[in-house]
Amino acid sequence: QEDLFKNVVSHAKEYGFIFPSSEIYDGLSAVYDYAQNGVELKKNIREYWWKSMVQMNENIVGLDAAILMHPTTWKASGHVDAFNDPLIDNKDSKRRYRADVLIEDYAEKLNIKAKKEIEKAKVRFGEAFNEQEFITTNPRVVEYLAKEREILERMGRSLGNGDLEDVKALIEELEIACPESGSRNWTEVRQFNLMFGTKLGASADTAMDLYLRPETAQGIFVNFLNVQKSGRMKVPFGIAQTGKAFRNEIVARQFIFRMREFEQMEMQFFVRPGEEMQWYEHWKATRLKWHLSLGLGAERYRFHDHEKLAHYANAAADIEFEFPFGFKELEGIHSRTDFDLKAHEEYSGRKLQYFDAELNQNYVPYVVETSVGLDRMFLAVFATSLKEETLEDGSTRTVLKLPAVLAPTKAAILPLVKKDGLPEIAKQIIEDLRWDFNVSYDEKDAVGRRYRRQDALGTPFCITVDHQTAEDQTVTIRHRDTMKQDRVAIADLKAIIENEVSM
Ligand code: GAP
Repeated sequence: QEDLFKNVVSHAKEYGFIFPSSEIYDGLSAVYDYAQNGVELKKNIREYWWKSMVQMNENIVGLDAAILMHPTTWKASGHVDAFNDPLIDNKDSKRRYRADVLIEDYAEKLNIKAKKEIEKAKVRFGEAFNEQEFITTNPRVVEYLAKEREILERMGRSLGNGDLEDVKALIEELEIACPESGSRNWTEVRQFNLMFGTKLGASADTAMDLYLRPETAQGIFVNFLNVQKSGRMKVPFGIAQTGKAFRNEIVARQFIFRMREFEQMEMQFFVRPGEEMQWYEHWKATRLKWHLSLGLGAERYRFHDHEKLAHYANAAADIEFEFPFGFKELEGIHSRTDFDLKAHEEYSGRKLQYFDAELNQNYVPYVVETSVGLDRMFLAVFATSLKEETLEDGSTRTVLKLPAVLAPTKAAILPLVKKDGLPEIAKQIIEDLRWDFNVSYDEKDAVGRRYRRQDALGTPFCITVDHQTAEDQTVTIRHRDTMKQDRVAIADLKAIIENEVSM
């Protein structure tokens, strides 16, 4: 799995999807740039989300709020006081860790210990080895696995409760279970705010301290009444937004999974108080369906219902996805009550109420939020699509089996040879198709190698122009996943591609 993940990172770079930021200066930690193909894939994911949320729902409208907001926003939202990560320093290694990540690492080490025992036994017992039986009859392995589970459960509880003394005790306990994994010289656990600060204005005494937004949601809350009034929206209705968010993550790792500058796709759905739980269930189901529609495999998704809730929520769940490094949060669905709107009323002194004509009543609506990371979606789609296949003749090919609707380039047009008028025909086909799809032209190398290159880029179709084309206006169209080729009329190309790639 580690190898698979390394492949994902190197493929993303080699084929122009993702580069480390400012790479000529050795990069900037946990910041990445989307390259020529990555930017198309990312845009297509965003559009797929936008169409299903905004275009397909009459009662959901879009918004593009600014990244910079009045600083009181973040007092009202709770981010100034509560958007913290517990940190712990090791005096020996002089390194700083995020407590939850550190504890997860220990748990993983225990898991690895158990796996090593299993591997050793496999070698020893050969054919006769039965893993389940071995685990249940081998107290050491059982102990490691049970400890791992117990640690993760306790970690969740003490971090959730903000019980930092407990966290420290847990780390000490782990060092006894896993003595080879570090020293015991920890400082107390401290809190660290995750927001990036900046300044508005030039002169030192009048400049105003601002934050880069750590979530897009607050731009929606502060505009709630503006949108409701100008759009004559009736509850229940939603406001959707995609855009950058910034968090000074302490431990940023796993490539684009946890970044310091990332993009969110969020939707706040405003409902009558008391009706939030039914809408919460509705959006949980609807969002899962959206993910499943991409066809990455239902077994890769699961819900994780939160037991311990954030200060603003009365119900919350994650949609978790099986990344190359295990099941992790991909999207959050939160029932945020009237916490945010009420807080903004209080801090701004403005009413943020809605008059419900049916009930003949004023109220502050409740909010159900769906929030998915665009970069995480990218990683989910990209990593799952990347396959190494062994073909019938024993050779291998690397293919990026992206959902066709998301593929950066929908078709590559390839003249079989660089002469006999074939490039001209190919370019004419491009001219005809480029109004509808992102298409590309390639005449370098043998056609087999060009196919492999398009496979690696995730292009669903290769269209080859050969000598017969000049005679009868037909081309071959090769399908990325099956590698099957059909002979079709140039005039039919648009419909064939459209059938596969439209949303
Ligand atoms: N408005 C709610 C909110 O921001 P969150 O769980 O903190 O909730 C929502 O973030 C989603 O944003 C996550 O499920 C994840 O997909 C994405 N996300 C959060 N932090 C991220 C980071 N540092 N890098 C990449 N994506 C991140």
